[in-house]
Formats: sequence, structure tokens, C-alpha cells
Amino acid sequence: MTEVLRVENVRKFFGKFAAVDGVSFTLHEGGIYLLVGPNGCGKTTLVNCISGYFKPEEGRIYYRGVDITDEPMYIRARRGLVRTFQIASPFMALTTLENMLVALPDNAGENIFLSLFRPTWIDSEISAVRRAAELLRVLGLMHVWNKPAKTLSGGELKLLEIGRALMSGGETILLDEPVGSIDPKLCHQIFSHIIKLRDELNITFLVIEHRLEVAAQYADWVFAMDRGKLVCQGRAEEVFEDPRVITSYLGEE
Ligand SMILES: Nc1ncnc2c1ncn2[C@@H]1O[C@H](COP(=O)(O)OP(=O)(O)O)[C@@H](O)[C@H]1O
Ligand SMILES: [Mg+2]
Repeated sequence: MTEVLRVENVRKFFGKFAAVDGVSFTLHEGGIYLLVGPNGCGKTTLVNCISGYFKPEEGRIYYRGVDITDEPMYIRARRGLVRTFQIASPFMALTTLENMLVALPDNAGENIFLSLFRPTWIDSEISAVRRAAELLRVLGLMHVWNKPAKTLSGGELKLLEIGRALMSGGETILLDEPVGSIDPKLCHQIFSHIIKLRDELNITFLVIEHRLEVAAQYADWVFAMDRGKLVCQGRAEEVFEDPRVITSYLGEE
């Protein structure tokens, strides 16, 4: 198994308060990892440290063996480590395919977007459109490729956001609470495509979810946080029976 991300003893303070208090874990290529824990336990702050939005006061973060702790967000994204909302939200007037193309890194997207209005395309443009079509196929969005984003359902928009992260070169995707609502159908729609992306394209996912039951059945491995610390990790059924995890959720909601 290839290691993609290693978090070593990361601490992030707000004033004197350690929102992330010495967290270490490793992600392997092609895994679907779930990060759970009650509201305010530090999940988003930890993901912000991994994406480069925050710099931790202590600890190191490695991506494919390279120490990226001091690298800005856009360099990490270029390496393939991408948090979805880093990618601008879809342009509602553009079609699904156009939204995929403008997510290409640097100016490539803009050039390809303009090529839609030109009679001849160069090879790099053709291969980008092929890549977009391949991703839309895996994401189950082919039937809306030519529809404006504003006509897409909530689930389809979320899948398009993931597609754009992949189009921008993402190989390890950080998703902070991708299923906003409790709707189990929506949850299944998103996670079944996450599994397809892993199976067909070997994409690695770290998914944050506050509600224990929602995404458990889709994850290979679960990390549970409480008050800034990782309290337990393992397969979903083990983690959710762990007394430390149960206690951390008591008194919530
Ligand atoms: N920018 C910030 N400044 C000060 N405190 C923050 C900031 N962001 C988060 N916190 C605090 O850090 C803790 C962890 O927050 P967060 O990472 O958002 O938790 P979670 O995503 O698990 O709900 C909370 O107590 C929160 O109030
Ligand atoms: Mg959060």
C-alpha cells in the first residue's frame, strides 16, 4: 500500500486553546477515510492544516513522502492534494462540461473554454475534453453534460464540485461534510460515486462527517476525534462501539 498523506503530531492553537492537539495518522492510496467527531472537536481545523489554509504551530505533514508543512495551498493542490471548496463553486450559467474545463489548472482551462468557439482544436484540448468526459462518466453526470449548472440537483452539483477538483489535478480529495442534509438517498448518490472514483481511478478520499451513522457504511477506515485529539481509529463498526467515541457524542443535540 502506498502512503499518500502522513500527519505527525499536528497542533493548531487559537490563542492558548489547542483546537487540534497532537494528531497523527497516515492515509494510503485508494482509501476512503472518514473523520468523525462531535461539533467543535477540531475536524475542520485539522483539514485546514492539511490543505495549507492554516499552518500548525507544531508537527509535520507529508504528502507522498515530501514535507509540505511550510508549503502554501496552491503548491499542495499542484501536488494533487485538494480540498473541494478551494475550487471556486460552479459557474451557474455554464454547462457541466464547461465547468469541468475551466477547472483545469493555470490558463489551460481558459484556453480550452475559448476553444469551444473555435473550429479546430489542438491535441491538449482534445485530451482535456476526453478527461472531462471520462470523469463525468464515472460521476454519472453524462446526461447533464450540456445543461447549465443552475439546472442541476444538489447532489449533482456536489458531484460536479468533486469532478472539478479531479479535473484540476486532484488525486487526494478532502471533503468537509459533503452531504449537507440527512437525506439518505443524497448520501448514497454521493458516496456511491466516491467509491466508483476510488475503484476506477484510484482516488483517495478523506471525508469529514459529524453524524456517525451517515457515511459509515462507505468508509474503509474511520478516525474519531474528540476535543482536538484522535481518540480512536479502525473499521466503522469497531469505532462506533468504542466507549470513548460514544462518550464524546453524549450530550450532543
Ligand atoms: N478561526 C478560529 N478562531 C478561533 N477559534 C476557532 C477558529 N476556528 C475554529 N475555532 C475553534 O476551534 C474548535 C474546533 O473547531 P472546528 O475545527 O471548526 O471543529 P469541527 O469542524 O469539528 O466542528 C472550536 O472550539 C472552534 O470554536
Ligand atoms: Mg467542521
